[in-house]
Amino acid sequence: MSMLYSEEVMDHFANPRNVGIIEDADGIGEIGNAKCGDIMKMYLKIENNIIVDVKFKTFGCGAAVATSSMATEMIKGKSIDDALALTNKAVVDALGGLPAVKVHCSVLAEEAVKCALADYYKKQGIDHPVIKEAEEIMGHDDEHEHEIPEE
Ligand code: FES
Repeated sequence: MSMLYSEEVMDHFANPRNVGIIEDADGIGEIGNAKCGDIMKMYLKIENNIIVDVKFKTFGCGAAVATSSMATEMIKGKSIDDALALTNKAVVDALGGLPAVKVHCSVLAEEAVKCALADYYKKQGIDHPVIKEAEEIMGHDDEHEHEIPEE
């Protein structure tokens, strides 16, 4: 089974970076995965448009842990614009790939970062396009939760 996962994925799963919470976070993003119902919470500390600290907590699977760990490493010390440009594909590539059935897990990290940045801008009273983007992400979530099966 472990052959399905790259060494990088196994490493980030076994030793995830930046797990935890930031008590005085400047932005917090919480997002559910529409596919599996797993949850991700992302905390950002921001100074002068730089992400000086980032922590995450997830009730997600191993692939979610590994991608979030890698994503936090990729945005720590970077500008907000760099963090906004982070895609789940870049994270998956940095991990040496993921099995196709686990790619939806990697979306959690990207979306949680966007929601945390939207929360940051809202708290600052700044209107920024990411706020609308985050609302759309959360909206999709709601739609899914309230979906009534046909049969
Ligand atoms: Fe839910 Fe991976 S199965 S995040």
